Amino acid sequence: MIELVNVTKEYPGTVAVKDLTFEVGDGEFCVLIGPSGCGKSTTLRMINRLIEATSGTLLIDGTDIRDYRPEELRRKIGYAIQSVGLFPHMTVAQNISVVPGLLKWETSRIDKRVGELLDLFGLDPSAYKGKYPRELSGGEAQRVGVARALAADPSILLMDEPFGALDPITRESLQNEFSRIQRGLKKTIVFVTHDIDEAIRLAARILIMREGELVQYDTPENILTSPGDKFVLEFIGTDRALKRLARLPVQGLMRSALSVVLSDDPGKVEKSLAENSYLWVTDNEGRLKGWLDRKVLDKAPFNMEDSIVRIRVADFAVSPDSTAKEALSKMVLAGTSSAPVVDNTDLLVGEIRLADLLEA
Ligand SMILES: Nc1ncnc2c1ncn2[C@@H]1O[C@H](COP(=O)(O)OP(=O)(O)OP(=O)(O)O)[C@@H](O)[C@H]1O
Ligand SMILES: [Mg+2]
Repeated sequence: MIELVNVTKEYPGTVAVKDLTFEVGDGEFCVLIGPSGCGKSTTLRMINRLIEATSGTLLIDGTDIRDYRPEELRRKIGYAIQSVGLFPHMTVAQNISVVPGLLKWETSRIDKRVGELLDLFGLDPSAYKGKYPRELSGGEAQRVGVARALAADPSILLMDEPFGALDPITRESLQNEFSRIQRGLKKTIVFVTHDIDEAIRLAARILIMREGELVQYDTPENILTSPGDKFVLEFIGTDRALKRLARLPVQGLMRSALSVVLSDDPGKVEKSLAENSYLWVTDNEGRLKGWLDRKVLDKAPFNMEDSIVRIRVADFAVSPDSTAKEALSKMVLAGTSSAPVVDNTDLLVGEIRLADLLEA
């Protein structure tokens, strides 16, 4: 657990952080957000004592951070810095090994840890260990930066815009990957960003700062439904209803899908279609192939093969891990009021309806 009590940081002529009080519970994902210069990085650096607070108290697990020995703090707290900050003259493996090296781990243990972490972030150890930072793409370098912060398995992770400076697609896939990894690791995380969508996607609690002060500290749901003041309202933007959908996984909203199989008896399919406005169509294995619209029954006689609307699954379907916002986007693009839900092998596992989104 991290606690800040009345923490202030002054520089000559500037108060970077002003009387800041908040806590982050064990295993909690806290996102610090606010305009440039509002004191986010300063706050993060005070937590691991890269910067001394001018006044106030910072506690980790109930103990004042000034009472820890430096190597204890280093072991407890991992830090991924703004702009990656890999050492250019060191290989990927050497970069990741920095803190374990300082903690005097045995070489074999360090090697094993480097391999584990590269695997965790989807980078093949044999291919990446020996590379230098200049040989990495931006997304790869950011993965290595986060892997390095996790190297000594700290219970706390401080991350300063770790996915900044990435294109939106790479950024989103890294966010998803990191969310998945965090579900297993359950670290206590303070994560800085100035991207509100990133905050909403990742955070259990969002701390909004302005000019060194705390403006609102609450769950993304509460911030979106009841923004504390005009500044927060402007900060989260006019599409806050859509942003809320980005917090809802399809998993919790989907229902079972009515479907028929390509090889089903046409008479049976026709009867079933008469009772429903549409049916999903799968192959014998249950993989989604398309749908049938009840309107085809107006043009008798019914012929299954001619009536199926075959689809490219990726264009129409979402996965159980997708967000309600992605599902809505697919429906709008396809002009439908329902989206099929498939697993990663295209097996139809359910559907999500526009009406369910509106209720949510
Ligand atoms: N070493 C320093 N000396 C003087 N002023 C500083 C110093 N470091 C930071 N500041 C000032 O403190 C304020 C907060 O800076 P900080 O780096 O914490 O902002 P930030 O919220 O992380 O911004 P950004 O989103 O741009 O990274 C700024 O006004 C900055 O100019
Ligand atoms: Mg900063």
